[in-house]
Amino acid sequence: MLILGIESSCDETAAAVVQDGCEILSSVIASQIEMHRPWGGVVPEMASREHLEKIGPIVRESLTTANLTFDDIDAIAVTQGPGLIGSLLVGVCYAKSLAYGLGKPLIGVNHIEGHVYSVAFENPPVQYPALALIVSGGHTNIFHIPSEGQYKVVSRTRDDAAGEAFDKVAKMLGLGYPGGPIIEQMAKRGDPGKMKFSLAKISDGRPDLSFSGLKTAVAKYMRENNVAPQLTDDEPRQEIMDLAASFQATVVRSLVGTMEKIALELRPRTLIVAGGVACNLNLQDAANSAGERLGIPIYFPSKHLSTDNAAMIAAAGFAHLKNGERSGMGITADVTMRLQNFENEDAELRKRRVHYRL
Ligand code: KG4
Ligand code: ZN
Repeated sequence: MLILGIESSCDETAAAVVQDGCEILSSVIASQIEMHRPWGGVVPEMASREHLEKIGPIVRESLTTANLTFDDIDAIAVTQGPGLIGSLLVGVCYAKSLAYGLGKPLIGVNHIEGHVYSVAFENPPVQYPALALIVSGGHTNIFHIPSEGQYKVVSRTRDDAAGEAFDKVAKMLGLGYPGGPIIEQMAKRGDPGKMKFSLAKISDGRPDLSFSGLKTAVAKYMRENNVAPQLTDDEPRQEIMDLAASFQATVVRSLVGTMEKIALELRPRTLIVAGGVACNLNLQDAANSAGERLGIPIYFPSKHLSTDNAAMIAAAGFAHLKNGERSGMGITADVTMRLQNFENEDAELRKRRVHYRL
């Protein structure tokens, strides 16, 4: 089955052709990073206008690269949510028009489920039950996946996503946008034990995560020790590199420590670490060590598949399409789309005034 995947949830316009959910025939990504860089973050209105310009050419490029035409495609998979509303609408409307015009099946895909399927191409098949740590700029969750397509959130961030914390701390240190890759570079020459930042403790005992306190701790350290942000063209100062390394080490300890604790309890057969932050080699090293201690295989996507792409959307779409699922022409973008379909504790947590972000 040949699936055309389309992704436009944030600042990447992407299209891919994937065969049988595991073979990439093409994967094209137009990144808007340069356009948003002067603003220090994604400007939603600019992002949707740019998607509108790019989506047609990018989809056509994905077909020509794969040596195919629209007629060869069996179905279309598109990111339906979560994400920025304007950005999502461009992809969803384009995919709907295409599906209608060509008379082909359409499936709306949850972007986070896409990240789970980003490991489907370069690793052995996932064995269930699996445990997936999804760490991106907008989301940080650990999912228990007892069988394919079943998701329960077993840990979530109570405030910032891990990638968001990387981006904000990089901004405070004067390092630019996006923060994750720059902090990782800086951290290479820094001492991760120099500043002692403590891990967030959740008072109600849930295995949740929190990164906003860490961000404040970095700001407080800079204020109390008169650390000025890095100036753009200067040679990086040692204290900035030490701060980057100490911050990164704390985030990695928190993510991997939480995943390991949960894995010890649930004993999954596969561990998955995916999303933009999964590019981070320190995180990969620490997660690999945890996998070895646990005796559980651990899968990561390669760099191209870690950040937003359409191949992962096509792979997730394939899983639904092969079960006979289809989206009608009535689907629309869903900004708050959730990926949790059993033992959902949301209502109970809200009653107990547990605030968190999915
Ligand atoms: O998955 P993604 O491309 O977009 C979302 O769905 O959010 O993730 C983007 C996030 C950004 O916050 C970026 O700073 C972070 O992933 N990131 C990294 C690294 N590369 C990207 N974080 C830490 N280390 C990296 N090497
Ligand atoms: Zn993403």
